[in-house]
Amino acid sequence: MPPGLGEVGWQNYLLDYHRQHPGITEQVLRGAPRADVGTAYDWLRSAIPPNPGRVIDLACGSAPLQPLFTDADSYLGFDVSAEELATGIARGRGPLIRADARDLPVEDHGADVVVCSMAIMLMAPVEAALAEVARILRPGGRFVSIRPVGWPARWRDLRVAVPLVLGLRHLPEMPQRFGRGRLAALLDRAGLEVVADRALRFAHPLGDERDASLVVEALYLPHVDQQRRRAAAERLAGIARPGREVPLAIRRTVAVRS
Ligand SMILES: C[S@@+](CC[C@H](N)C(=O)[O-])C[C@H]1O[C@@H](n2cnc3c(N)ncnc32)[C@H](O)[C@@H]1O
Repeated sequence: MPPGLGEVGWQNYLLDYHRQHPGITEQVLRGAPRADVGTAYDWLRSAIPPNPGRVIDLACGSAPLQPLFTDADSYLGFDVSAEELATGIARGRGPLIRADARDLPVEDHGADVVVCSMAIMLMAPVEAALAEVARILRPGGRFVSIRPVGWPARWRDLRVAVPLVLGLRHLPEMPQRFGRGRLAALLDRAGLEVVADRALRFAHPLGDERDASLVVEALYLPHVDQQRRRAAAERLAGIARPGREVPLAIRRTVAVRS
């Protein structure tokens, strides 16, 4: 948990952040496709076979995954942020329901697939969310999550990372860090066996000051004020140019319900 914030403090920060920035994760990930796999959303989808049955999207945000599941028997997205859900609904996506991932209104074994994009590291306690995933998945069902990680990276990424951190004087903060197989161990304890685990480096262009502002706004920084965010965005804008990019390493973990 970020220092000084209990579970309630973090939930309040998160709700407030997404009230002010609905759809921001989708904006960043859509702007960061790879030539080989497409966006991170396409990459997540490619871990699930066609005709996936009943799909639950955990912490769906603006529901960017929904259009990728038109071949599912059903799709249902859950999120705690009313503004994120409203953004998704305004984009014609649904059904979307306001609910906490740690207490889902879904019957036992009511899902064939559960997906979770860029949110598992926000859950506290994460064990409660994983227990819900295990409860709602049928035996043999699949849980696919993607989350931001620090690797893979390139040496030249330091050209962007250094001014960003110097500007913010802080690193992004989230309740969960999943280094050294911790997520696999937690999944295992919940009854979900990891069958594939891989990270890829995506990148968002840093072509101008709008890219710089977007990238800084997209970070969870409960201890950084707007002035520092502006300072970081200005530093990034100062090095923005065609061809420059902000790295975004993402890990995809596929687990099967035993
Ligand atoms: C980084 S955004 C990702 C949104 C979307 N999945 C995407 O990839 O674009 C994280 C989302 O997780 C949601 N969230 C965080 N904790 C949650 C919880 N305990 N239950 C449900 N939603 C949660 C937030 O409201 C936010 O919409």
